Amino acid sequence: MSQLAEPESSSVTVRAAAKINLHLAVGPVRDDGFHPLETVYQAIGLYDDVTVTDGPQWSVHVAADAGIDLGSVPEGDDNIAIRAGRALTAHHGLGLTAEIEIHKGIPVAGGMAGGSADAAATLVALDRLWGLETSDEDLLAIAAELGSDVPFALIGGTAVGSGRGEVVRSVPDTSQLWWLVVPHEIGLSTPGVYRHFDVLAERGAVTPADPKVPSDLLDALEVGEPIGYLLSNDLEPAAYDLRPDLAELRARLEELGAEAVLLSGSGPTQLALFEDVDLARDAAARLTGLGILHWLAPAPVAGCHVIELL
Ligand code: C5P
Repeated sequence: MSQLAEPESSSVTVRAAAKINLHLAVGPVRDDGFHPLETVYQAIGLYDDVTVTDGPQWSVHVAADAGIDLGSVPEGDDNIAIRAGRALTAHHGLGLTAEIEIHKGIPVAGGMAGGSADAAATLVALDRLWGLETSDEDLLAIAAELGSDVPFALIGGTAVGSGRGEVVRSVPDTSQLWWLVVPHEIGLSTPGVYRHFDVLAERGAVTPADPKVPSDLLDALEVGEPIGYLLSNDLEPAAYDLRPDLAELRARLEELGAEAVLLSGSGPTQLALFEDVDLARDAAARLTGLGILHWLAPAPVAGCHVIELL
């Protein structure tokens, strides 16, 4: 049983950022059903805020910014934030429980790891609430059990991810980017997109190889040179094949003068890249004129951090 430090607050709020994949190389499916990845993650300025307080049992309540549909987010024990809380208390051999309030600014089922952000934020918030002082190494290990993207949600910034995405290594990034983030009201299931990737591989429509991160992308990030032509996402053929309706939106985004248009992770969120904030704002205004929901997000941004202690 761990020794608990004196609690310093009755409520802790932690902010966690959305992730995108600047490069997502996917290999052939492994025996455990996961796919080997080499990816470059970047944290971008759309956030979920998670507030924890002591409670008589585990509970979670979820609210959202305008434009975010909470349709598929469970409010019971299946919520990944509760799974995170249980994993942390099990790690310390403690029987503590908490109330978890999630405020979502990251689209749900959008390919931006919103659930992973909530899990990571919950770990950091409970660790602080209860003065557990869990080591970074242990937090990363607990995060990796919860989901492939959760370790990156802890560290933020820009990082190379390998394994199934859970092995993360921060990399230098001096770029100052603006991402126009365009969600879609109908989400895509990440396992469903990976399964369809396998179907396309069986048909020979995609040929998964040993995944690798190109060194020219890492070099460009380090010195802040343009990266638009270096972006890639191996899940795009599967996602666009499942959802041909996304092609029309993509074509519109390609007319906005962005340096690149990219699918975010397993989609359906699409991303338009700008290095000039004025061009990004003009493009955002054009989307407003077309009645297309969007957010403008800076990148890279920090990982989980405490924003309020009461
Ligand atoms: O790890 P996480 O829970 O985020 O993964 C969700 C699902 O996405 C997995 O169950 C699996 O179907 C798929 N996935 C995969 N290969 C990865 C990561 C995720 O096939 N590297």
